Amino acid sequence: MTLPRIPLAGVIGSPIAHSKSPQLHRHWLKTYGIPGYYIPMDVAPENLREVITTLPKAGFVGVNITVPHKEKVMEIADLITDRAILIGAANTLIFRKDGKIHADNTDGYGFVENLRQGAPQWNPQAGPAAVLGAGGAARAVIASLIDVGVPEILISNRTRIRAEALQQDFGKRLKVVDWVQAGNMLEEATTIVNTTSLGMVGKPELRVPLDGLRKGAVVTDLVYAPLQTRLLRVAEEMGCVTVDGLGMLLHQAVPAFERWFGMRPTVDAAARAAALR
Ligand code: ATR
Repeated sequence: MTLPRIPLAGVIGSPIAHSKSPQLHRHWLKTYGIPGYYIPMDVAPENLREVITTLPKAGFVGVNITVPHKEKVMEIADLITDRAILIGAANTLIFRKDGKIHADNTDGYGFVENLRQGAPQWNPQAGPAAVLGAGGAARAVIASLIDVGVPEILISNRTRIRAEALQQDFGKRLKVVDWVQAGNMLEEATTIVNTTSLGMVGKPELRVPLDGLRKGAVVTDLVYAPLQTRLLRVAEEMGCVTVDGLGMLLHQAVPAFERWFGMRPTVDAAARAAALR
């Protein structure tokens, strides 16, 4: 008698100890009674290809990819989804039965789903969106904002040239605003997103002026440690609708878990609590 193989999945990054994905996926595996494992793996860039191409042979059905490998992994995949190509990075690999490695990026999906569920009244088409920051996270956010029909995206970054590079890639719907003018940019927006690392534990606060935020604007911060950043605290005081960044992390994991383990998991209070453990 051959026993069914226990599916394995995991997350590859370096460092990896801080990742919240293992607690989350393990919570879902337990909740749904799925006999699988989710393993964090600290892999150096020079070993990335060898590790990824070996994992399917060891019973892995896929892995998440995190910093610093999200771009590099695109060179290793056999198939890449359109959204991963647009973002220029992948966060999810699926090891297909035919041996092909499929790369996807679910960050934008997680971002939109977090806003839809955290702010049901959110209408992305109601007005311009303002994006602070122009790193990898901003690319995923911008691609998905365009996808949901935001009419205009105002983007501001300390290093202006990085915002201009995004404008080159994503086109005329983006308008670059000088970092010193970022406060004015926020006054115009009905959707506001911080994609910088400012406000994160151990980093300086986001010091952009926030006194002109529009009442009713939907404001989110990709920083989720702490959950309540200065941006979200002030936005709430100004009558904005605020959504913390933990939900993006939870929602981006949903399509991956479903593909690997055959069950669409629910993002609920228990999943949030598991990720925060
Ligand atoms: P990620 O891929 O997670 O977005 P990243 O590429 O390192 O990470 O980008 C981090 C973002 O935070 C960038 O927009 C960065 O601005 P620069 O492009 O000018 O570096 C922004 N950021 C980080 N520290 C900052 C600081 N002290 N002041 C202003 N912006 C900062």
